[in-house]
Amino acid sequence: MFQPIKIAPSILSADFMNLERDIRMIEEGGAGYVHVDCIDGHFAPNMTIGVPHVKQLKRVANIPLDVHLMISNPLVQLPWFLEAGADMVTVHAEALEGQQMNEAVEMIHEAGAKACISIKPKTPASVLAGVIASLDMALVMSVEPGFSGQGYIEGSEDKVAEVARMAREAGNDGLLIEVDGGIGVKTVERVCAAGADVIVCGNAVFGAEDPKAAIANISELGNAARQAALEGGAR
Ligand code: DX5
Ligand code: ZN
Repeated sequence: MFQPIKIAPSILSADFMNLERDIRMIEEGGAGYVHVDCIDGHFAPNMTIGVPHVKQLKRVANIPLDVHLMISNPLVQLPWFLEAGADMVTVHAEALEGQQMNEAVEMIHEAGAKACISIKPKTPASVLAGVIASLDMALVMSVEPGFSGQGYIEGSEDKVAEVARMAREAGNDGLLIEVDGGIGVKTVERVCAAGADVIVCGNAVFGAEDPKAAIANISELGNAARQAALEGGAR
């Protein structure tokens, strides 16, 4: 059955002095999540949003917070972000070893939140094999973590298709696939045709003259591509 995609605007590109206004704007524009990029300056070369901000964001947002943790010690810091009110929490596969991926997912679920694992552009989808059955979402990065406004890495859609295949094989038909980095009107169709459900947009929304219209345009293009792929026999 056709499920429309959701847009998750990344507030890394919003106006930090007017975050509440910008959150209202994307809610009115039909965004599905507020994407919150938390970077610790170690896992990736930027320092952005931390626990106190997430706590404050939770007070004003009426749509779920999709908290993307680009941090080196997720098992230490996860409880803080969960306590702060993150609804969907993403940790990176590259920051976890062995059973730690499963531990992180358990910790997130115990707090009543949704769990997502992300992979960087050079990380193969196969690292998700042992955990994909218990995930709510998998995040395929289509730029190197760190900054908004980078160009989409060509071929990232192949990894989306691979994750979709792995989820089907693992019996996780409800798995959401999120794509993050360089997505806008030029790139949304290919990732949605490959099986993406949640589209992160930083620059393409907050850098647009009319952010609400940008959300509508990107959704429409993504949904049409998804519908066409479905009719063509894909996911
Ligand atoms: C990169 C972040 C992304 C980024 C997206 O480290 O995870 O969410 O801000 O921004 P755009 O859509 O501009 O690439
Ligand atoms: Zn992100």
